[in-house]
Amino acid sequence: MAKLGTLGRSAILRKPNESMRLVITTVIGLVFGYLIGISFPTVSITKLHFPSSIISYIEDRNSGLSTQALLNRAWSSANHNKSNSLNSNGTTKIYVPTNPRGAERLAPGIVVPESDLYLRRLWGDPNEDLPIQQKYLVTFTVGYDQRHNIDAAVKKFSGNFTILLFHYDGRTSEWDEFEWSKRAIHVSARRQTKWWYAKRFLHPDILSSYEYIFIWDEDLGVEHFNAEKYIELVKKHGLEISQPGLEPDKGLTWQMTKRRGDREVHKQTEERPGWCSSPHLPPCAAFVEIMATVFSRDAWRCVWHMIQNDLVHGWGLDFALRKCVEPAHEKIGVVDSQWIVHQVVPSLGSQGKSENGKAPWEGVRERCRNEWKTFQDRMADAERAYYKKMGITPPNTTAT
Ligand SMILES: *[C@@H]1O[C@H](CO)[C@@H](O)[C@H](O)[C@H]1NC(C)=O
Ligand SMILES: *[C@@H]1O[C@H](CO)[C@@H](O)[C@H](O)[C@H]1NC(C)=O
Ligand SMILES: *[C@@H]1O[C@H](CO)[C@@H](O)[C@H](O)[C@H]1NC(C)=O
Ligand SMILES: *[C@@H]1O[C@H](CO)[C@@H](O)[C@H](O)[C@H]1NC(C)=O
Repeated sequence: MAKLGTLGRSAILRKPNESMRLVITTVIGLVFGYLIGISFPTVSITKLHFPSSIISYIEDRNSGLSTQALLNRAWSSANHNKSNSLNSNGTTKIYVPTNPRGAERLAPGIVVPESDLYLRRLWGDPNEDLPIQQKYLVTFTVGYDQRHNIDAAVKKFSGNFTILLFHYDGRTSEWDEFEWSKRAIHVSARRQTKWWYAKRFLHPDILSSYEYIFIWDEDLGVEHFNAEKYIELVKKHGLEISQPGLEPDKGLTWQMTKRRGDREVHKQTEERPGWCSSPHLPPCAAFVEIMATVFSRDAWRCVWHMIQNDLVHGWGLDFALRKCVEPAHEKIGVVDSQWIVHQVVPSLGSQGKSENGKAPWEGVRERCRNEWKTFQDRMADAERAYYKKMGITPPNTTAT
């Protein structure tokens, strides 16, 4: 990303006397624009036909900015005094209230509200930039120390996946030792968590091309996992939010996410007595953890909105995922036949900071717990406020 920015700037500001050239260009642009304005009074609003001498002049300038300035001038003077019929607003100005917020002054035909993460070439026909349009996205939040694990993991994801790495240790270029790293997208911000990156860089409008989004930790063993097969199963069983089953089953907190050896998928489990208020509620159903979560496009659009900017560890999110799909106990589940090993590398703890004589990991752990409580409180408050405003009695099952 940073590289591209630099490239763009250096292409425009090429020479030291560039600012003088800009001034001249702009003045010439004004004159040309004026000439065009008076000599082509009926110029169409969508197309400007320049004499070929102007086109070659623009090309000769060889600078993106000056070309842009010229075009802008030509455009505005050509349209300066077109007599349009007035719109309902009583002006000739474009105003489209149904456009996305802030874009009302644009003609709807030019508004592009969504994007993607596809890498494009800087040359050639844009229609031919993408050999395949990847339908899936996988993100890993990584430190360089885990590179061999991530290398193994990435190889389980076919070319149908866009690969996006979030680097919490600031080391990005070292990853180029892996061939796939060159087609991956690297986002670097030191000492941040998976949900911090997800909130900032995975906006649903940016991910709208992806049917499924994998938001994964770095410490997962993928020997028994194949991403294409996983997606087949998720589609077959109608899972909007899912994760692979976990091995080994000792030392895991929840029954739900343990791998079952005898089936493709499970959506419900038994827990310890008293842990589940209903067989359809977490942690007995409608529940996966947040270490290796896979979202459908629609589910992610909802979950993204639930992520809080300040609660970076995402604790409590797993219990609340069910708010985003309906019925949750059928659309949230664990894929058993494509499973992973949770290796438990305490990477985030080592990114903490010693305070008041406590070890770094203690401070992180404490914040995790506090965030969980804060998140639960906010959810409960928000729902209470909603029901109160609507004048309805809340259902019993809203508390988590
Ligand atoms: C613009 O057009 C209006 C009539 O639509 C005319 O009265 C006005 O003088 C024109 N202005 C210029 C600068 O040509
Ligand atoms: C008319 O346009 C202005 C902006 O130019 C906008 O603020 C206003 O809401 C519009 N009114 C209607 C009825 O669209
Ligand atoms: C990628 O997706 C296409 C279209 O769905 C499919 O035909 C192809 O098998 C996929 N590639 C791999 C490696 O699975
Ligand atoms: C809701 O809670 C009340 C009292 O706590 C109980 O009587 C009722 O059966 C509950 N309803 C459901 C649908 O669980």
